Amino acid sequence: KTVEPCSVVIFGASGDLTARKLIPALYHLFKEKQMPGEFRIIGFARREKTDESWRTELREALDQFSRTKPVDDAVWAEFAKHVHYCKGEFGDLEAYKKLEQQLASFGNEALRNNLLFYLATSPSQFGEVVEMLHNAGLLHKNEEKGWQRIVVEKPFGHDLASAVQLNGELTKYAHEKQVFRIDHYLGKETVQNILMFRFSNSIFEPLWNRNLVDHVQITVSESLGVGGRGGYYEEAGALRDMVQNHLLQVMSLVGMEPPVSLDAEPIRDEKVKFLKSIRPLTEASVGKQVVRGQYFAGVVNGEMKQGYRQEPKVKSDSNVETYVALKLFVDNWRWSGVPFYLRTGKYLPLSASEVRIQFRPTPHVLFAAQCGTKLDPNALTLRLQPNEGISLRFNGKVPGTSTSVRPVRMSFSYNSEFGAYTPEAYERLLLEAMAGDATLFIRRDEVETAWGIVDSIRKGWEGKPLTNREFYSAGTWGPVAADDLLSQAGHVWRDPQPVT
Ligand code: BG6
Repeated sequence: KTVEPCSVVIFGASGDLTARKLIPALYHLFKEKQMPGEFRIIGFARREKTDESWRTELREALDQFSRTKPVDDAVWAEFAKHVHYCKGEFGDLEAYKKLEQQLASFGNEALRNNLLFYLATSPSQFGEVVEMLHNAGLLHKNEEKGWQRIVVEKPFGHDLASAVQLNGELTKYAHEKQVFRIDHYLGKETVQNILMFRFSNSIFEPLWNRNLVDHVQITVSESLGVGGRGGYYEEAGALRDMVQNHLLQVMSLVGMEPPVSLDAEPIRDEKVKFLKSIRPLTEASVGKQVVRGQYFAGVVNGEMKQGYRQEPKVKSDSNVETYVALKLFVDNWRWSGVPFYLRTGKYLPLSASEVRIQFRPTPHVLFAAQCGTKLDPNALTLRLQPNEGISLRFNGKVPGTSTSVRPVRMSFSYNSEFGAYTPEAYERLLLEAMAGDATLFIRRDEVETAWGIVDSIRKGWEGKPLTNREFYSAGTWGPVAADDLLSQAGHVWRDPQPVT
């Protein structure tokens, strides 16, 4: 990818995201020689800091957050020369004028005009920052001079109405094509590989439909609890935190039709078309197709953990979900009648994300005497993380004189095939945003369609407290109600396996 010289301005630069993800990603891109020949990084935030003090702070954070990848002092010293700080209040036009002078002082047209604004701020500040950038002459809707792009983080709204409002605020001063909405799942290699896998092989795609697929399971489990984020979680819950974005994104990539090309718009068109084909949920169907869960105290990885209601900043009678499981139908030609099961939760036995395509059973069981009336059906598992890879499960004869059959696997592992180095999601996403490729970012209509789905679920939950079957002990695979969701159709959850 060619990236033109540019300046990256990070709003909310004192925050956690900057130290934990953004600076490490930019540093590693620099180390890998992927940054443009000329670039600057400017942190914009309220606290008093100098370029030097900010650089020292970031260097310390880098050691902490880049544990798996060593930091080279000489490379850092070179990188740090590009890093600057600008103190300012988000609502103060003078601060933006100071920023403008700082950019102009670099003495290079491109560093002054090609600007990537990363809003690592609360969404309530997006509108104000964008307006000020416009007023200070730093953001041009028609990009008359150079290019300007705005990168925003989730949560992108808390429902459809607030997402529409945020979109309105952003596109008042910027064109939709200048807005890059992040979903860090799209930055993951394995998530990008879903499309490559589907559309660069001739043997799988013909199977990828209702004729041979029995159902699909998408699991994003986490062995962490809500930790120090109780306050945020009380507002969000697993549905908004994980399903609205990551799970629906993965589901769209698994289920969408082939795009006419691999450019941003054709891919995003197909994702939106897919999301719009998901059968709308009504109040009655939410009760049957969606399960909430909340963890109570239990043992995770050998350690006793407290229940969600005992976490700091969580109400002692909270009904917020730390787990959610859904059964969705896609009303289109390809997927008619095939359930997509999605689940995600905190304090589950392990952290793993995978997609499992479960194929239909054989039409007739020849080996009934040995296997009972059921053979284990074929399945293709895409392991998104950890232990990244793909495996295909099929049945094979157990050697010997009997006719016993049991499942065996063919496996592909990223590590053994491609070596250990895979870029972090944020490295890829920052690079794409600097290069102006929006393929891995969420378009306005995508985010709004996803919120429509989430809103209908929340409406179905209104005024209904959690039932006994929706609580689960920390360290287990979720509430029994989630098992019931599958067993109605004779299905069972296939849990990710620990890495051995
Ligand atoms: C974030 C959620 O978007 O994704 C977190 O806010 C969650 O609650 C995280 O832990 C999971 O991301 P990953 O990359 O660790 O699977």
